[in-house]
Amino acid sequence: MAKLTTEQATQHRKALALVDLDRDLTLTEREFVIDHYMETADARLDGAFFTPDGLARDMSIEVTGKRVIDLCAGIGRLAFACRDTDWERLNNEQPRELVCVERNPEYVRVGKKVLPEATWILGDVFDVPGMDLGGPFDTAIGNPPYGAVARGGRTAPRYTGGRFEYHVIDVAAAVARRGVFIVPQEMAPFRYSGRSSFTEERTDAYNRFERQTGITLGHTVGIDTSYYLDEWRDAAPRTEIVRADYTSARHSGTAPAARPAPKPQPSRNWTGMGATDFNTRPKAAQVAMFDVGDDAATGTIGLFDV
Ligand SMILES: C[S@@+](CC[C@H](N)C(=O)[O-])C[C@H]1O[C@@H](n2cnc3c(N)ncnc32)[C@H](O)[C@@H]1O
Repeated sequence: MAKLTTEQATQHRKALALVDLDRDLTLTEREFVIDHYMETADARLDGAFFTPDGLARDMSIEVTGKRVIDLCAGIGRLAFACRDTDWERLNNEQPRELVCVERNPEYVRVGKKVLPEATWILGDVFDVPGMDLGGPFDTAIGNPPYGAVARGGRTAPRYTGGRFEYHVIDVAAAVARRGVFIVPQEMAPFRYSGRSSFTEERTDAYNRFERQTGITLGHTVGIDTSYYLDEWRDAAPRTEIVRADYTSARHSGTAPAARPAPKPQPSRNWTGMGATDFNTRPKAAQVAMFDVGDDAATGTIGLFDV
């Protein structure tokens, strides 16, 4: 894990002080927190890497509809980029409903402060299909963990492979009409970002995902994610933004939509835990509550396969 620079540590402390204030934050303060709260400050749990601001804004162009759910939301960077702006308010448009699902209690605490207009659910993305969320969402969004990040034995309804991002895209099909996700470039069925031209390229992993789920991942209006390569913290993942149309996929795919539930793993009891309780535990105990991504057997470091 990279050490914070003095500047980063100072800004992070200021962000935390804002989060701790016993009042609502101004928009400027909320933006400061979302820009300066460091996901690595305590430990990189579940391989969290927050999306750069510009990339989140670019992605928001693809997001449509009035009900949006952010899966694996972190502190809400993507949902923040999709929130209503003055334009919608001035035009008296119906407000967009945002729901954020995240399993790290500290991120949820921070997220509630920077994006109070969203409904925050402290929970596991694999529980989403069973949640009563008030009907289908127009769009599911996410920059989920990438690769063989541990899932505690949980799986999506149809996909049975090892890639966390594909599980999340399959989970989203249970609650949304369409999806927009940031995924590692080689997990998209095309290459566009950082390339001189668009090409279709499918890996075996992608073919398996498509075969099992019936979901085809499509490209966007032309967002080149490589523009933001240097803006990630401690990483420079090559990514693509992919779109999924779930209305044409729901009843296809070769894997059964409902499989017997996997044997439950011993509970880590993080879901019901408040942020204060979580934060006051020793760092090692916090880490032990997560299925941390680093795994020598699979070659995964945090989120990113190497
Ligand atoms: C790559 S980070 C992205 C965060 C945020 N979406 C963003 O773009 O900045 C992935 C997030 O997924 C969360 N996460 C990991 N496993 C999860 C799970 N099983 N259920 C819900 N959230 C999870 C992590 O805590 C982390 O905040």
